[in-house]
Amino acid sequence: MADFVVVANRLPVDKRVEPDGTTTWKRAPGGLVTALTPTLASRSGAWVGWSGVPDSSDDPRIDGIGIRSVPLSSDEIADYYEGFANSTLWPLYHDLLVEPVFDHDWWTTYVVVNRKFAEAASEAADEGATVWVHDYQLQLVPSMLRELRPDLRIGFFLHIPFPSFELFARLPWREELLRGLLGADLVGFHLPGGAENFLTLVRRVLNLDASRDPVGVRDGLGTVRDGSRTIRVGSFPISIDASAVAEQAAAMTDRAAAIRAELGNPSTVLLGVDRLDYTKGIDVRLDALDGLFREGRLDPADTVLVQLASPSREHVDSYIAVRDRIERSVAHINGTHGTVSSPPVRYLLQPVPRDELLAYFLAADVMLVTPLRDGMNLVAKEYAAARADLGGALVLSEFTGAAAEMEQAYLVNPYDGQNVRDVVVRAVTDSPEDRRERMAVLHQQVLDFDVDLWSQSFLQCLSGAAAANEAAR
Ligand code: ADP
Ligand code: F6P
Repeated sequence: MADFVVVANRLPVDKRVEPDGTTTWKRAPGGLVTALTPTLASRSGAWVGWSGVPDSSDDPRIDGIGIRSVPLSSDEIADYYEGFANSTLWPLYHDLLVEPVFDHDWWTTYVVVNRKFAEAASEAADEGATVWVHDYQLQLVPSMLRELRPDLRIGFFLHIPFPSFELFARLPWREELLRGLLGADLVGFHLPGGAENFLTLVRRVLNLDASRDPVGVRDGLGTVRDGSRTIRVGSFPISIDASAVAEQAAAMTDRAAAIRAELGNPSTVLLGVDRLDYTKGIDVRLDALDGLFREGRLDPADTVLVQLASPSREHVDSYIAVRDRIERSVAHINGTHGTVSSPPVRYLLQPVPRDELLAYFLAADVMLVTPLRDGMNLVAKEYAAARADLGGALVLSEFTGAAAEMEQAYLVNPYDGQNVRDVVVRAVTDSPEDRRERMAVLHQQVLDFDVDLWSQSFLQCLSGAAAANEAAR
């Protein structure tokens, strides 16, 4: 039994099949696992999640974390993960960038799967344990778990944007989802705006008493009164292990120089690094590049854009469509502006090993982070952390959570093509002193506000919120 339990859709593991056919599990290099490893190690910790393999009875084991796998069938993956989570909630919470699908069968499966996670968490948790539930896939887990185990301290954190009343209220299951979240003692969002949207929704949809004061960052929590319980609501912008990124990146300078040489030593290397997702605005930056070549403001013979994309949610229609759009755009730019020996866009659709990724960060003159909507965007923070040399420049969409903190980036409105083109040119041509000044602020900022601060501030607020509810019982 564990006194600290993390519940997330995915387990922090990657499956490897060795040449002799045996299976091994490696710890996945994700931000959440890095953030929570110290807490998981210092207490008796467990992680509840899905292995990532449908129809599998795999029971992954890794050192240092007690793993409790929630097996899911292919039908459940189709309706809960690809369906309700990623074709209903994901587009709705990301400002309707594609039309969300409302399907009652998907909802039924979402409820069933959330109950499986809640039951697994209930079995893993010791008396009075702290349970931290993560993200939009599991919004019903807090209330299901509270019903099973009223003794637990339950926190919930949403890793994506939380929409306004007008968008959320479209959901046929709006009451159930809000009720699901209210099972937690503390509900956390990246930005105060998401927390305030939640408070408004609870007031207007559930008619509960919810505070109206502005929510602060890691402070100034909102409150919802639900019977004898008080649910705290706050803003906790997630971050990265910035000093580890800086240290690992420092070892990659030779490889960074080699990458530039492999690219033909162009004057300007632009870089994009994303999951292949329509929210990330990969097409926004490709359109900007095409426009800048056409206008003669960048020279295709001396400029390279490296776009590293990792495949994501590949069976979902909107992801198939965005991949198609991006690949046509890459072919168009290379076909129109390139030569056989030097295409201006180098596009990879595969995850890149961590070290190699850091070397690309060092090799890039300008990092292009242009999402149409993003809860936070950790790539922006990784780039700033990697650039301890204070080189490079960050172009960052105003529609990311990261933009709220990283004001010294070259901020862009991704919906305004001319603005994107102008800002990219500024990032490329500004004086080295101006660029260094901006990067110095960004680099220090990610070192100061790192992932440890995120997890510790959330857990501290959770402890206070739960203690107050226990005292009131
Ligand atoms: P999201 O959670 O929506 O995928 P984030 O930017 O917050 O977006 O986090 C993405 C994480 O995945 C970062 O740690 C980033 O370095 C990593 N990543 C993104 N694209 C790739 C890629 N092509 N290869 C390897 N890692 C990637
Ligand atoms: O950040 C949002 C998120 O959906 C996380 O929950 C998840 O770990 C990540 O993006 C990758 O998505 P997926 O688990 O669907 O591959």
